[in-house]
Amino acid sequence: MLKGRSLIDPMDLSKDELENIFQLASQIMSSPEEFSKVCEGKLLATLFFEPSTRTRFSFEAAMMRLGGKVIGFSEPNSSSVSKGESLADTIRTVSCYADIIAMRHPKEGSAKVASIYSDIPVINAGDGGHQHPTQTLTDLLTIKQLKGSFNNMTIGICGDLKFGRTVHSLLKAMSRYENNRYILISPSELQIPDYIREEVLKYNNIEFMEVESLEQSIESLDILYMTRVQKERFFNEAEYLRLRDSYILDREKLKRAKKDLMILHPLPRVNEIDYSIDEDERACYFKQAKYGMYVRMALIAKLLGVR
Ligand code: CP
Repeated sequence: MLKGRSLIDPMDLSKDELENIFQLASQIMSSPEEFSKVCEGKLLATLFFEPSTRTRFSFEAAMMRLGGKVIGFSEPNSSSVSKGESLADTIRTVSCYADIIAMRHPKEGSAKVASIYSDIPVINAGDGGHQHPTQTLTDLLTIKQLKGSFNNMTIGICGDLKFGRTVHSLLKAMSRYENNRYILISPSELQIPDYIREEVLKYNNIEFMEVESLEQSIESLDILYMTRVQKERFFNEAEYLRLRDSYILDREKLKRAKKDLMILHPLPRVNEIDYSIDEDERACYFKQAKYGMYVRMALIAKLLGVR
C-alpha cells in the first residue's frame, strides 16, 4: 500500500510496488482521459531550492493532468527561506496547505529530514549529489517500455558518476534485477562513491567494471546512460573545466555500437551527446523525458491513494 508514504530513496519501493506504478503509468498513457479528474481537489506543492526543468515541470504537468492543482516555488529566495526560516518549519507549514510535496534541495539528506517533519507524503526530487528516485522511475519505465525487461543486459553508465545522483539511484534500483553487467565509465576523479561500490554493487555480488574509455566499451552495450559533469557540485572551477568534456558521444563513436543500443540521458545535456545523435533511432532521451511525466502521474496517484 503506497497511500500516505514518502519516496526518499529508490529502495523505498519494492519490485512489486515498482511494477504496480509502471502498470498504472501504462494505463494512463493508453487512456489519459480516464485519469483527468482523479486528483480533483488535491494540491501538490513543488519546493525547488535548486534549478530544474524536467523534474519540476513534469511534476506540475502530472498533477494538472490528473485534475489537481499546484503551488510552490522554483526560487527559494521568493519564500521565507530567504528570511532564515528552517527547512523543518517550511515543511511543517506547507504540509498545512498541500496534500503532497515534491522537493529538490542542494543538501544530501534534506528530503529525509523533510519527510520527518511532514504530515503529508514527501517526494525527493533530488537531494544534492545523493539520490533522485523519480528520475530512476523515469529511467526504468523507459527501459521497460522500449526494451521490455530489466534483466540480462550490459549497461554502460558514463560521465560524472561521483556527483550524478541519477546514477546512484539507478544503480541501487537496478541492483535487484537479474544477470546485468555494468561498465562504469568515468575519469578516475569522478568514479562512483564508495558506498555505491561497496554497499550496492559488491554487497549484491553484481558484475561491474570501472573503466575510463567510452570508445573501448561501447560495442558491448545494450544501454548507454550518459550523464553531465555536475558543475554545481564542484568546489574548484578549474577542475570542472578540465573534466567537463571527458566524454562526447558522436556519430564516429556510435558506429561501433549495437544496432539496438538504447541511449539514455537524464538531461540536461551540455556537450556530452552531440546534437547529430538526436536523429538516430537509438537516442531515447526525449522519450525518456516524456515517460517521466507519466510515471510521476502514476506515483502521485498512488501516494495520494486516489486510484
Ligand atoms: N533530469 C532532471 O532532473 O532534470 P532537471 O534538473 O531539469 O529537473
